[in-house]
Amino acid sequence: MSMEWTPESWRALTAQQQAEYPDPSALERVLCELRQLPPLVTSWEILDLREQLAEATLGKRFVLQGGDCAERLVDCKAPRITNTLKVLVQMSLVLVVGAERPLIRIGRFAGQYAKPRSANLETRDGVTLPSYRGDIINRPEFTAEARTPDPQLLLRGYERAAMTLNFVRSLVKGGFADLHHPEYFDLDWVEQSPFAREYHAMARTISDSLRFMEAVLGVRAGDSDRIDFFTAHEALHLGYESAQTRRVPRRPGFFNLTTHFPWVGLRTNDPDGAHVEYLRGIENPIGIKVGGGTTREQVAKWLDRLDPQREPGRLTFIHRFGARKIADQLPGLIEMVRAEGGNILWICDPMHGNTLTTQSGIKTRSFDDIQTEVEQAFDIHAAAGQKLGGVHIELTGENVTECIGGARGQSEQDLKRAYESEVDPRLNYEQSLELAFLIARKMKAG
Ligand code: PEP
Ligand code: CO
Repeated sequence: MSMEWTPESWRALTAQQQAEYPDPSALERVLCELRQLPPLVTSWEILDLREQLAEATLGKRFVLQGGDCAERLVDCKAPRITNTLKVLVQMSLVLVVGAERPLIRIGRFAGQYAKPRSANLETRDGVTLPSYRGDIINRPEFTAEARTPDPQLLLRGYERAAMTLNFVRSLVKGGFADLHHPEYFDLDWVEQSPFAREYHAMARTISDSLRFMEAVLGVRAGDSDRIDFFTAHEALHLGYESAQTRRVPRRPGFFNLTTHFPWVGLRTNDPDGAHVEYLRGIENPIGIKVGGGTTREQVAKWLDRLDPQREPGRLTFIHRFGARKIADQLPGLIEMVRAEGGNILWICDPMHGNTLTTQSGIKTRSFDDIQTEVEQAFDIHAAAGQKLGGVHIELTGENVTECIGGARGQSEQDLKRAYESEVDPRLNYEQSLELAFLIARKMKAG
């Protein structure tokens, strides 16, 4: 990989998981249009996040990354966006008490529209069609028309991402997450949850200490009362990503201006592949999903290509082994990264190694597996003399029934009631908050 990097140099390599468009020239026209549109994020926000992630790498911050497995264009609606922000804010309030360090909130939103699939084709009743690959590529309905990749969807996705982010920014600016007013982001369910009292007590502690600080210092706490959100998505559709990758005035290098924090998925993380080639040339902080069977050679190549300077903040490993494999796999991975001189941030994704299919064919995850994997992650990193730097959760602010378990004991029978996801099962409101409580307790216990 000694070739010169450009935003399009990945095109010389094989890109896994790309859709096949029937009319490549129509795709090219759309990408030209996409290149002309204004960016979604700015280079200074990206560099701000990179700095914050560097602090997290040094154990001074904790990352909460969460959101839908796949955003849907039809779900770009005020209540949905508000609920996602609310659950993330609430989780982060809980986590900050356990972590005793500032949180970095990163939403899997405003661009999480493209999905890798285990099979290119899907067969139903003898009919075979291309798999659904996410809303910027095709549509989930099982008809030839819906499943044919449509380049126009890239523009629809970009526009919805802009609308989502616009609304998020307005809410945040308007004091939606102002810590002086935790009551603004109280939710109905909190009252029913076994954690209601604990949550209210935590929220009160936070606003009381803010007031106290302000009374003593005689000034408003300024930035510390405002909550920031950063955005992240899987950088899967390389045409979409590279169309918004460019230089900015007065700063060196190229930036992917569709998102602050792009990550490469497990199925496309080949260090010799097109996705890693694309990511190596941008200034954004980068995540890599890593799973079982990772080799020393892969680790060496990722580090050399994506983070040759071994600079904290540049590279994050998001590990997703599964509750039954993490104990066996993570210690070795930590050793490999050390041996290669890595200076990376470690985030635990306890979702993607724990997906299972019920007898009736429904994709789900068990809350217990999710909890067990995160808890083991804390212990394994601590035993290795370092800190787990964050968690990566698939969740929604809606009351769905996609994962089993949790305080309410959601069962396999409940799954049918409110199962919405076209792809992976998410934690619902209560399950997300419960997980945050359990993680906070675990952090406090040390
Ligand atoms: C995802 O994050 O939705 C995903 C597909 O994860 P992974 O690449 O780890 O399987
Ligand atoms: Co997923």
